[in-house]
Amino acid sequence: MKFARQSILLAATAIPMIRAVKPKNYVFFLPDGYGPASETLARDYSNYVDSATVKLPVDDLAIGYVRTKSWDSLVTDSAAAATSYACGIKTNNGAIGVDPDDIPCGTILEAAKLEGYLTGLVVTSRITHASPAGFATHVPHRDMESEIAEQLVGYSHPLGRVVDIMMGGGKCFFLPKSNKDSCRHDDMDLWSVAEDVYHWTMTSSRADFDDIRDSGAVHIPFAFIPSMGHMAYEVDRDPQLEPSLTEMATTALDILHRKAEQQETGFFLFIEASRIDHGSHAHDPIAHLHDILEFNRAMLAVKRWIGDHEDTALLAAADHECGGLTLGVPDYAWYPYVLTQAEHSAKYYAAVYEDILGFNYSAALKESSIVDRVFGGYGIYNVSLTEMARLAITTSPAVFLGELLSARAGINWSTLGHTAVDVTLFGHGVNTDRFVGNYDNTEVCHFMTDQLGFDLGKATKLLQSDKSFAASIQSKAKSKNFLRRFQLEHEDDILQAHNH
Ligand SMILES: *[C@@H]1O[C@H](CO)[C@@H](O)[C@H](O)[C@H]1NC(C)=O
Ligand SMILES: *[C@@H]1O[C@H](CO)[C@@H](O)[C@H](O)[C@H]1NC(C)=O
Ligand SMILES: *[C@@H]1O[C@H](CO)[C@@H](O)[C@H](O)[C@H]1NC(C)=O
Ligand SMILES: [Zn+2]
Repeated sequence: MKFARQSILLAATAIPMIRAVKPKNYVFFLPDGYGPASETLARDYSNYVDSATVKLPVDDLAIGYVRTKSWDSLVTDSAAAATSYACGIKTNNGAIGVDPDDIPCGTILEAAKLEGYLTGLVVTSRITHASPAGFATHVPHRDMESEIAEQLVGYSHPLGRVVDIMMGGGKCFFLPKSNKDSCRHDDMDLWSVAEDVYHWTMTSSRADFDDIRDSGAVHIPFAFIPSMGHMAYEVDRDPQLEPSLTEMATTALDILHRKAEQQETGFFLFIEASRIDHGSHAHDPIAHLHDILEFNRAMLAVKRWIGDHEDTALLAAADHECGGLTLGVPDYAWYPYVLTQAEHSAKYYAAVYEDILGFNYSAALKESSIVDRVFGGYGIYNVSLTEMARLAITTSPAVFLGELLSARAGINWSTLGHTAVDVTLFGHGVNTDRFVGNYDNTEVCHFMTDQLGFDLGKATKLLQSDKSFAASIQSKAKSKNFLRRFQLEHEDDILQAHNH
């Protein structure tokens, strides 16, 4: 008995020394704007709802911290942070896949492509938004989303098409300006160019997504872009129109894995729970909370997937904290049960409010509708006359509602922007137990790249050898609006309200 036990122990400790196991596939999962308090918020809420002491799925996966500052600011934005995770360098806030001098840097996704790996981007924001863009495109400023869309499909990217699968919102950047839903600044029909010239399978249809998920049959490259702008907040999502992040992530894993097996290579997949951040910018604890819960479900699904595919590794970390979220204001007041009643985001109820204002109702009927359907809908049952009056004059009903519910729950937000605090590092699968500690965001890239045996320098050299591409980035950099660079984030919700 004693003998047997000893030899098992010896065998277990000997394995890492004799076999340098490397992952074949890598998943990097970015919960945008997910700070340490976000995790506590969701855990305490879950404990209340489940009447039990539970841990969140990601609680078990925490392995360290990540430092997030950018080249030009101690408080990063998503563009600089994505570039650090993707290229392993620091850059300026606003910069996408370029260094502080606007020179393109090779990304881990591009390095994967150069090695014949499959690659994917799965997000809930616009697919052209800063975080996914930082992994596969190169522009001096994140707002250049028309160019980002072009590079994503392979048009105007110096390495050609580097993305095999993309899922997320942002269809408006693929439609010509003549289309009423377009966000493009020109008349290019990028959707058709992607299909006809680059042979993408392009779809916006939930039914198509389901067919592909169930049958596994899809021609790559494949893009699923169900919404014009960002996909919905999880709490507002209509499952008839949009799948959850969990469904998209597992579908992407299955498709990439099947193809990679056929090719005898691996894959690199970037997944983002994009809108956790938007909930914080808007000071909406409901939108923030439910996107966090979905992030946890998606992480659990990826962890389970890795259970069946042990040659895969997962690292996850936010790009930055957002909102300066605090639980327990004033002293010791933190009541998660206040968050149990709302069925939608503050943005949703702000739209209900605007509708009511537009109705031909008497003043009394308007007021009672606002009390019932706006405040009541959002879980605020004891609204005061002063609060009613403040809603009538606020420039942002959504932020007003979010802050009102936050105050009742004992939640406070210290900023509408990001903060500099460290974010949590999560890991699971091959060798991630060797990456325990406090790391700079650039080191996360270096670790993954080393694990995969990739050479980012090769991708960088190839990009830089395209002189006309480099020159075009330089000239765009000169003409870009430098003022905007310092606005850091300008989310739709906030943009309307706060004029910044
Ligand atoms: C609003 O409703 C009132 C009474 O129902 C009606 O007299 C009035 O014409 C309506 N106004 C508009 C602009 O429809
Ligand atoms: C509403 O109820 C909350 C407790 O849920 C309390 O903190 C708050 O002061 C009340 N507000 C008003 C205006 O009565
Ligand atoms: C919440 O934070 C804001 C700053 O964002 C501050 O003005 C306010 O006083 C805080 N609320 C409480 C109850 O401390
Ligand atoms: Zn943000």
